[in-house]
Amino acid sequence: MERPILDFLYLVSIVFFIVGLRGLSHPESARRGNLLAAAGMILAIIITLFYPFGNTPNNYGWIAGGILVGTVIGSVAAIKVKMTKMPEMVSIFNGFGGACTMLIAITEFRTLPPGTELLSGQVFTVIFSVFIGSVAFSGSLVAYGKLDGFLRDSIRLPFPQIVNGVLLLVIIFFGGYIMMMDELNYTIVLILLGLSIIYGITFVMPIGGGDMPVVISLLNSFTGIGAAAAGLIYGNQVMIVGGILVGASGTFLTILMCEAMNRSLINVIIGGLGATTFTGGDDKDKVVKEASHGDTAILLKYSQKVLIVPGYGLAVAQAQHACHELESMLEKEGVQVRYGIHPVAGRMPGHMNVLLAEADVPYDKLLEMEEANKELPTTDVVLVIGANDVVNPAAKTDTGSPIYGMPIIDVEMAKNVIIMKRSMRTGYAGIDNPLFYGDKTKMLFGDAKDSLNKLKSEISNA
Ligand code: TAP
Repeated sequence: MERPILDFLYLVSIVFFIVGLRGLSHPESARRGNLLAAAGMILAIIITLFYPFGNTPNNYGWIAGGILVGTVIGSVAAIKVKMTKMPEMVSIFNGFGGACTMLIAITEFRTLPPGTELLSGQVFTVIFSVFIGSVAFSGSLVAYGKLDGFLRDSIRLPFPQIVNGVLLLVIIFFGGYIMMMDELNYTIVLILLGLSIIYGITFVMPIGGGDMPVVISLLNSFTGIGAAAAGLIYGNQVMIVGGILVGASGTFLTILMCEAMNRSLINVIIGGLGATTFTGGDDKDKVVKEASHGDTAILLKYSQKVLIVPGYGLAVAQAQHACHELESMLEKEGVQVRYGIHPVAGRMPGHMNVLLAEADVPYDKLLEMEEANKELPTTDVVLVIGANDVVNPAAKTDTGSPIYGMPIIDVEMAKNVIIMKRSMRTGYAGIDNPLFYGDKTKMLFGDAKDSLNKLKSEISNA
């Protein structure tokens, strides 16, 4: 095929990426967006097979083998993975992306012709790709280990910030040294690679397991930047644009997550929040009113307007289907039921949207936080299911609270608040929630799925 035609087809695949990415911004178009982006990727792979890269050996057997292995692993993982394990999967696949960048860069360095001008943009790009790819690779594996629980938060490095600062300086020194040398030195590049892998580990290690979604998004942007840099090495447009899209969207997502949690990225990286310790404090003076399933069922059945605020506990209990069934039952009784979705409810971006979509909850029932807050003064009952921090009024009132300033779903504005959780334990931020002791609040203790099933049978018997 002629090169202008191949370039044009690359452009088509880039358009597919961009339109696909746009589709991901809304749950209704997300599936289509995902398919479009995948189609763009398939097109890009096919074009690359025809692309004239100069004097390259015929590697079609290796390429076919790689595609086969990758397709089998990717498909099986995507089909089998549980929704709650999605952050782990994203993390490990991101690690593979980083490893690809690292391997491409190291291979390219190895094949640089003798006499290559070392103080050049080309060599800088290779060194940068080795560094960023290695950090994304090892950092993502550590993030995976922490999310999966086999790497505990209690494993601490001494003086992590100092260690990381010194390591980064050493890496910069080696990078500069490679470019200042008279001839290509592969061994020093391998040392740089080793140091970068260690830096990826020490960079992610001090961060609390619960903060991993933010870190994964950051590492995702690293992988994108690495892929764009690898694209520069090859002069391959689709890799450059694809990498920039991943890098930019990962960066935006990281910033948006931090903003929604009212925390700076530095604060996340240095660590602090995320330890889920029970701060019972002066609970003795506070009175908790407990609700029964029967009373709650009657309250719900005779309401006009109900808002469900789901949180991490809904995902843990895998209660999304039971929740949708309860919502349908109430709707049949003439109750208007909608969901209030906080941007950082759960543990990954869009966690609640994905969870509820899995249970076929119609998208028009999902209200974003601002919309939900507008509806609250006219809402009869708010059912908070496994959510804690995202409804904690301390974020508005307690200047000393770690979540002070985080926008919340202000459920206290409704007429009645029912909190469904197993105990008085804290959520992700590890802080007490004054909402639980509020005048309008009643606690319905138990696992979310069990409680929802009990509510369903109480409603049908009422
Ligand atoms: P959390 O504040 O973590 O509260 C979840 C609650 O669910 C817990 O208090 C727990 O109480 C309850 N729970 C756990 N298992 C349950 C079960 N089987 N049945 C019923 N309840 C159960 O969750 P949230 O309100 O969704 O807030 C999310 C938090 O994660 C925020 O602090 C946010 O900043 C943080 N975060 C979010 C993200 C993203 S992108 N979503 C990323 C990083 C951090 P019991 O143990 O008493 O049951």
